[in-house]
Amino acid sequence: VSVETLQIRAGSGSYDVLVGRGLLGSVGSLARPLTQAKRCAIVTDDVVGELYGDALLGSLMDAGFDPTVCRFAAGESSKSWREAGVLLERLSGSGLGRDSVVFALGGGVVGDLGGFAAAVYLRGVPVVHVPTTLLAQVDSSIGGKTAVDLPMGKNLAGAFWAPLAVFADLDCLGSLPATEWASGMGEAAKSALLDGEGSVAALEADAAALAAREATAVDRTVLMAAGLKARVVSGDEREAGPREALNLGHTLGHAIERVAGYGTVAHGRAVAEGIRFAAMVAEDVLDVSPAYGQRQDRLLTAVGLPPGRRTYEPAALLQAMYADKKVRAGEVRMVLSKAPGSWEIRAVREDVLAHTLERWVYAPDTKGQTT
Ligand SMILES: NC(=O)c1ccc[n+]([C@@H]2O[C@H](COP(=O)([O-])OP(=O)(O)OC[C@H]3O[C@@H](n4cnc5c(N)ncnc54)[C@H](O)[C@@H]3O)[C@@H](O)[C@H]2O)c1
Repeated sequence: VSVETLQIRAGSGSYDVLVGRGLLGSVGSLARPLTQAKRCAIVTDDVVGELYGDALLGSLMDAGFDPTVCRFAAGESSKSWREAGVLLERLSGSGLGRDSVVFALGGGVVGDLGGFAAAVYLRGVPVVHVPTTLLAQVDSSIGGKTAVDLPMGKNLAGAFWAPLAVFADLDCLGSLPATEWASGMGEAAKSALLDGEGSVAALEADAAALAAREATAVDRTVLMAAGLKARVVSGDEREAGPREALNLGHTLGHAIERVAGYGTVAHGRAVAEGIRFAAMVAEDVLDVSPAYGQRQDRLLTAVGLPPGRRTYEPAALLQAMYADKKVRAGEVRMVLSKAPGSWEIRAVREDVLAHTLERWVYAPDTKGQTT
């Protein structure tokens, strides 16, 4: 097994992110030196539990852990305050003490919910992330953010809780449905744009191989994107500076998810549209050449994220942008990519947002229709 280690050195904790193939069977032995714990919980959803639960269970038992399995229904609707309560009562009912560990096996939903439960259970027990979606491997398992949704919006209650370690087994990605794959590619494309020319060129060259999920291309892409996230969160954990750059594509992305109804448009698809929108704003506000916008558009399409249906009301999207929890002092701050590896964070005026939204909805290649 060839495994790469990314080191996170953040104020709230230092930990390693291990990325490799066939890691699942070694999670127990790799986690063993990190904790004295015997009792532990495997928190997972029913889909991932079915696919990979036994492999993790066996690996933990072989390493002397005594696991309790906590499963919940797959999907964003489980990332709720209520489900967190159910989970906490389950941990307590199973007699897990302060010296136990939570293993979160699954996508971002499992990581956020399991991480949140670990953060508050007995005022905090360690969590180990075992991410199984592309999105979770390149993004959500790294950085120590945990959350649940409230009826008023996504991720409105949560905590920063750095994991003990992250074990990303690339073999798990083989069973990922196409929509989830595309969703993760949205974040991977974002990472490449933030990272620099080398990463953008590599992703362009790898696009066809990625569509076929060829191992070499997949491994390279996950390492690039996870590596970028690792570096950014090591430098700035609480999103006051460079970490804010990770929001590239998320201003319109979040607005689309909100207006379409959460769960209707996959996160990465919404982010891909958000990147296209941010490119239009960057042309307007920073005089970035349209050729760069076209390059981003082609890259997104090549990795499986062509422009989608743009049947939204621009006014509804604008309103959703102002309702986002990231709005500060009534200003919509956008991350604008100027060139690969170079960006600027700008408060964008409402009239600029409004007319760019019109332009985006009625872009000549889509005209508010399907592609
Ligand atoms: N904490 C953070 O920093 C952070 C960052 C980005 C996103 N998020 C959160 O992550 C969540 C989205 O995560 P996600 O996209 O991984 O969704 P998810 O966890 O809902 O997983 C998507 C679907 O894929 C299934 N699945 C997972 N792994 C699989 C595999 N290997 N094979 C087959 N099916 C598999 C799941 O059961 C689920 O049905 C959102 O709630 C978002 O808010 C958190």
